[in-house]
Amino acid sequence: MNDKSTMPMVVKGNLTDAERMKKESNYLRGTITKDLNDGLTGGFNGDNILLIRFHGMYQQDNRDIRAKRMEQKLEPMYAMMLRCRLPGGVISPHQWLEIDTFAKESTLYGSIRITNRQTFQLHGILKGNLKPVHQLLHKLGLDSLATANDVNRNVLCTSNPIESQLHQESYEWAKKISEHLLPRTRAYAEVWLDQKKVITTDEEPILGTTYLPRKFKTAIVIPPTNDVDMHANDMVFIAVAENSKLVGFNLLVGGGLSIEHGNKKTYARPASEFGYLSLEHTLAVAEAVVTTQRDWGNRTDRKNAKTKYTLERVGVDLFRNEVEKRAGIRFKPIRQYQLTHRGDHIGWVKGIDNYWHLTLFIENGRILDYPNRPLKTGMAEIAKIHHGDFRLTANQNLIVTSVEESKKSKIEALAREYRLIDDSVSDQRKNSMACVSFPTCPLAMAEAERFLPTFITKVEGILHQYGMSDEYIVLRITGCPNGCGRALLAELGLIGKAIGRYNLYLGGNREGTRIPRIYRENINEEEIIKEIKYLVSRWAKERYVKEGFGNFVLRVGIVKPVLNPAQDFWE
Ligand code: HEM
Ligand code: SF4
Repeated sequence: MNDKSTMPMVVKGNLTDAERMKKESNYLRGTITKDLNDGLTGGFNGDNILLIRFHGMYQQDNRDIRAKRMEQKLEPMYAMMLRCRLPGGVISPHQWLEIDTFAKESTLYGSIRITNRQTFQLHGILKGNLKPVHQLLHKLGLDSLATANDVNRNVLCTSNPIESQLHQESYEWAKKISEHLLPRTRAYAEVWLDQKKVITTDEEPILGTTYLPRKFKTAIVIPPTNDVDMHANDMVFIAVAENSKLVGFNLLVGGGLSIEHGNKKTYARPASEFGYLSLEHTLAVAEAVVTTQRDWGNRTDRKNAKTKYTLERVGVDLFRNEVEKRAGIRFKPIRQYQLTHRGDHIGWVKGIDNYWHLTLFIENGRILDYPNRPLKTGMAEIAKIHHGDFRLTANQNLIVTSVEESKKSKIEALAREYRLIDDSVSDQRKNSMACVSFPTCPLAMAEAERFLPTFITKVEGILHQYGMSDEYIVLRITGCPNGCGRALLAELGLIGKAIGRYNLYLGGNREGTRIPRIYRENINEEEIIKEIKYLVSRWAKERYVKEGFGNFVLRVGIVKPVLNPAQDFWE
């Protein structure tokens, strides 16, 4: 181990242009209001394209028709994607119904996309509909503040419908952490809600005038379920309970998945254990982690700016000591915890509060009225009669929570009528996931969401062929190496390289605690299917009883484990 104690904490060099942009933005205002009134373009200009991300929106265009519009000398078909802030994914039926109507009447695609960070995105909002959507969210007690760009994003919390009290307590902390770390600027209220400037000076005591060096993600995990994929997060609070009551958290710092193809300085990294803290220190510790990353994170290179790289550069011990100093506490040793799985339990479960909870499997999280599968109308029908909440999961599914015994059959009948329950969905499909990718994502290199359904049908066929139909592989596809589909925590991950071509990764585990390794590079669907056939045939023959696919490929040496990603991710 190098002695890191003498290393400078701040990376010297030219700051990135994003740093200039943040500094000059006047606390995230920029000239967004001016661009909103610019009728010559459907989009935003210059810095505002990135600034609106701090307000929870991405400027996008329909990439399927981009070339055709260029031929016609038209600007791209600009429209915005809006991502709501929804800590723990909890949304009321009333809120849902209003969002449903907006999606239907005022977006180009008419869908609600449940994301794997427990919120929803609305794709295809034209510029003229932006103020109305923010004002609608505000009326509903919601917002989209800080759901993108260099801030702490939507805070996750394990869905856990069974242990209702523990979930409620953990969820309250998810909300508190989210609110505590929000930007304090009034820009959002002024630009979108037409609120008057009430103070003359802005202050950002936690995030600072140039906000964080890079995006920052936080999750609360309630063991044994790792549905939030904790290692994809910069800051992880693992709930520690005594007699089903929350007493404190184990803190982990520095997880992250994003890489760049061929850039060996980038790697996926699991979060490191820092220690145990009791509940009353939660906000001080969260703030200390964020401000340490704010001050020490690399602002000269965005590919090296995330917390995972700061930790590797300065060392875990030094970062942890600084957090202790800033929070004014000493961490206690990590309390024992065990993670056993990630998938959602699809179907009904009874909570310890005696209410029923129904988890609906939503393929790709896309809630839309498909031919013969009017999922969106079905959700609206359930929302009209449901008195509990809806809870969006980090696996892109949706839980109808707290259903009284007397309502159970009615809700089930509606869910079946609108095909929100489909008993034929295999475990393989339930354990597969893709990011959005084409046509809306500007960074997409290969198909993901649109590729997944038929690809999974082929994988189901292979499992059947080798007598493994009752098994599954945690399988994820992500349209580019940014990794939104969390392929770098999958047993089998595909990362888009170019249209129709992917890198194939193997060797994550079912609990989500291991990073997979690259196995084949730049292969097409036919080659992928051939590889999967070979791998499944061996798994079927050679595995130990109940041995998961990811553990099998490591044990028999098909790939070597990634033990220390900063050193061996690319070997
Ligand atoms: C450099 C890194 C990254 C960049 C530039 C990036 C960029 C984007 C963009 C542009 C979208 C919008 C796509 C659309 O809805 O059309 C998106 C969606 C999303 N990203 Fe990322 N992303 C990055 C890394 C990650 C990682 C590592 C995760 C989680 C592990 C993540 C989670 C998500 C989620 C949950 C969505 C919403 C849609 C979905 O569920 O697939 N992102 N990202
Ligand atoms: S992984 Fe890439 S293609 Fe997929 S949503 Fe994220 S940025 Fe877009």
